[in-house]
Amino acid sequence: MEGLPKHIAIIMDGNGRWATEKGKKRSEGHKQGAVALENIALYAKQLGIKVLSVYAFSTDNFKRSQEEVDYLMDLLIYYFNNKLDRVIKDGIKIVFSGRKENLRPDVILAINNIINKTKDNQECILNICLNYGAQEEIVDATLKIHQDLNNKKIKEEDITRESYYKYLYQELPPIDVLIRTGKEKRLSNFMLYQVSYAELYFLDVYFPDFNNQDLLEVLQDYTKRNRRFGDVKNN
Ligand code: IPE
Ligand code: IPE
Ligand code: MG
Repeated sequence: MEGLPKHIAIIMDGNGRWATEKGKKRSEGHKQGAVALENIALYAKQLGIKVLSVYAFSTDNFKRSQEEVDYLMDLLIYYFNNKLDRVIKDGIKIVFSGRKENLRPDVILAINNIINKTKDNQECILNICLNYGAQEEIVDATLKIHQDLNNKKIKEEDITRESYYKYLYQELPPIDVLIRTGKEKRLSNFMLYQVSYAELYFLDVYFPDFNNQDLLEVLQDYTKRNRRFGDVKNN
């Protein structure tokens, strides 16, 4: 396909409702969501997408019951330790965005392991946003900039909208396509800096049902959109 996006981001929403509507426990939805993620990461790579960012757990998701939070963390550890073999063999480099504080030590260990295991992979990047909040990221970036200014590592004129990316959790290209599954039409504190010119897709499908065809349809539509970036070209 011509004109594919470099960076796709997915707000993987709707796991709980997927399960509830089937009379299952919410945790079953998260389990199926993990399967859907592994599948879509491999498919995106196959299509030639260079960066895929996924929202796995927000800073605000800690408001949920201890049982649900624990289940999600255990599931993440299980995936990082046992289930991502294909992703690793396929040359996908895994990185993380989010605050390490508040995460359990065993989660941090599993994260560090998978970062290490995949650090030399070069096919494409899977950026997992975990304990992630966009406003938190912007606050953290501001503090890092303040420090660099104080230490005279940079001058005020070095701070531009492009160089600001260096201070985010990961220095990745801007997001071209943002997909939110699960029927809601909001950003829920996800990558507010990086989505400035993203094309937005809000899908009615719950994340556990999100499949290759859904991604393909988004991409086919994306190639037809006219991204002007404030200019008047191709009007
Ligand atoms: C997204 O699904 C996964 C996480 C937020 C961890 P939800 O758990 O938010 O599912 P719904 O929105 O309640 O259906
Ligand atoms: C956003 O979904 C977070 C993730 C998908 C990880 P939420 O379910 O937490 O968002 P709200 O509460 O509906 O805004
Ligand atoms: Mg939700």
